[in-house]
Amino acid sequence: MTDSTGITLHNKRILLVGATGVLGKTYANALAEAGTNLAIADQPGSNVIELADRIGAAGIIMDVSVEDDVIASVNQAVETLDGLDGIVMNAAATGESLLAEGEAFSPFESYPLDVWQKTIDVNLTGTFLVTREGGRAIKESGGGSLVMVSSIYGVVGPDHRIYEDQPFKSFPGYSASKAGVIGLARWAATWWAKDGVRVNTVTPGGVFNDHDKSFSDAYANRTPMGRMANREELVGMVLFLLSDASSYCTGQNYIVDGGFTAW
Ligand SMILES: NC(=O)c1ccc[n+]([C@@H]2O[C@H](COP(=O)([O-])OP(=O)(O)OC[C@H]3O[C@@H](n4cnc5c(N)ncnc54)[C@H](O)[C@@H]3O)[C@@H](O)[C@H]2O)c1
Repeated sequence: MTDSTGITLHNKRILLVGATGVLGKTYANALAEAGTNLAIADQPGSNVIELADRIGAAGIIMDVSVEDDVIASVNQAVETLDGLDGIVMNAAATGESLLAEGEAFSPFESYPLDVWQKTIDVNLTGTFLVTREGGRAIKESGGGSLVMVSSIYGVVGPDHRIYEDQPFKSFPGYSASKAGVIGLARWAATWWAKDGVRVNTVTPGGVFNDHDKSFSDAYANRTPMGRMANREELVGMVLFLLSDASSYCTGQNYIVDGGFTAW
């Protein structure tokens, strides 16, 4: 990445939230390799401190669904990095991790309110809190970029047939919260546009994570490019949106899905 195009993140002060999962780890490594001044945050019980030590970043414990936690953690990042140029809000309650136990995949006709609420608390309210606290810090640091993370299921409805024989399924709070993230990003983008705070969403398609063949084949069959994403294929868009190469981009949803939502 060269300075002449603006595609450089060297010395940019970046906070990555949700850093230890499938994509988070990939982003954390890429951001460290790109020479950012990096803080990474994740929930209590995660291995975020060990990961941070390993890649030379600052590690922060933060539950995105708890307001005081987000306020304190973003402050900690700002103090540690001496300001903030960018945030990636990647944390989420996802089908394959947080909610894989219990009643997350109940039939909709009897879907439990508490699971719905928890999903909204983490994915949507968490994104609101990180955006409010982090965006203000970026504004006070002279401007920068906030990257939110949605999903193809925030854009189109799931094809429930591809989950029929799977231990995990798509679930309603996920789709609703991920659609909400796109709306929140647009709202915050127009709110902060004159302050130099850019806000965009990255929307990944399904990322291959050792899924069984019947699932990856069924997913691939729904995808114009005929396969799931490799986790590295999401990195470029995130780095681009954090960098000055995207200086005229705000309020948009950047879909990286092998064409999944194109037909
Ligand atoms: N992997 C995919 O196929 C895919 C597809 C579309 C969208 N996405 C989105 O990309 C992002 C990363 O997905 P992933 O597959 O790496 O998911 P993942 O479940 O592996 O990672 C989610 C991360 O969020 C963290 N997290 C969960 N609850 C939290 C909380 N309350 N406070 C702080 N951190 C919390 C987890 O510890 C984990 O590090 C998510 O926003 C997800 O919705 C993923």
